[in-house]
Amino acid sequence: MVSMDWDVLVEEAWRVREHAHAPYSRFFVGAALLAEDGRVFLGCNVENLSYGLTNCAERVAIGAAVAAGVTRFLGVAVVADTAVPISPCGACRQVLAEFRVPRVLLANRSERLEFSLEELLPRSSAGILDRTD
Ligand code: THU
Repeated sequence: MVSMDWDVLVEEAWRVREHAHAPYSRFFVGAALLAEDGRVFLGCNVENLSYGLTNCAERVAIGAAVAAGVTRFLGVAVVADTAVPISPCGACRQVLAEFRVPRVLLANRSERLEFSLEELLPRSSAGILDRTD
């Protein structure tokens, strides 16, 4: 049985944040995503000269997991060096909802806030999807 260890995930998220490609915003983000099988998938933000092509850390982590054939998750930690813990963008909330990532921990250097996906994006699939997988 895999259990959530936020300390490990937060540490991994800070580590991968070092790889962020953010020459335009200079805003560096790291994400560590825990799969049901215990594996951890990492993501950092990857910006582009054409700003709108930017990929957020959360979506890069999801992409890494999906590419490895993993689609079931327990939670994700997202870190940035902000005054208050970072708030994921709407697109990332929708992508986390796609894979039903149930718990989201948002952290800066000194504070952690934990949310359910439902709190971050209420009723994300109501009336649209009826997936059974
Ligand atoms: N960013 C993330 O990677 N995750 C978030 O939750 C918020 C924002 C990135 C996108 C862009 O590279 C930079 O942070 C500034 O918005």
